[in-house]
Amino acid sequence: MKIAPSILSADFAALGDAVARVEAGGADQLHVDVMDGRFVPNITIGPPVLESIRKRTRLPLDVHLMIVEPERYIETFVRAGADLVTVHAEACPHLNRTLNQIREAGARAGVALNPSTPPETLEWVLGDLDLILVMSVNPGFGGQSFIASSYAKVRQIRTLVGTRPIEVSVDGGVNHKTAGALAQAGATTLVAGSAIYGAQDPAQAVRDLRTAATT
Ligand code: DX5
Ligand code: ZN
Repeated sequence: MKIAPSILSADFAALGDAVARVEAGGADQLHVDVMDGRFVPNITIGPPVLESIRKRTRLPLDVHLMIVEPERYIETFVRAGADLVTVHAEACPHLNRTLNQIREAGARAGVALNPSTPPETLEWVLGDLDLILVMSVNPGFGGQSFIASSYAKVRQIRTLVGTRPIEVSVDGGVNHKTAGALAQAGATTLVAGSAIYGAQDPAQAVRDLRTAATT
């Protein structure tokens, strides 16, 4: 199981320290939430902040674009240090083209699905992607409660993916209570914001989440 702490719940005035803590806790990749105030009703960070984070860590940077017309910013985020770029299926009328664009820019390609978007949307692009991000909350904010139907959705996606080398990542309301069942449903990566940065010791929270996912 890969653990991807989301810095959305970290103290943005002390980001370098926040990143170092989860790296020390054995995090596998860092999840960076980019919001534009249009695709989702919140605004977060952009390429300059990603560039600063890139200088502070060797962890792969998993950039979750919650923005309209993400194709306009793919090259910029890859240049700023993204190893993996995830776009929302709902924001991409030409998803095949957008995924190819991510790979051509030199990053791994991911697609996020809102809770109401069916897995079949991805049936004809399975060969073009490296990660599916199952949103288990409506995107826009950290600290929301996990939508219970997401377990069944992860199982369906697992079946759809079959033996392809595609990561199945879950984002939203992931904590020590939901991690075990998500692992059993077939998740390969867990994104967690408040469960890690809301804890006293974020490094220990990474270890605890991994234990919860594997026991
Ligand atoms: C929500 C973001 C998440 C967020 C998760 O729109 O995509 O990555 O940080 O936060 P928690 O883990 O607190 O639900
Ligand atoms: Zn996210």
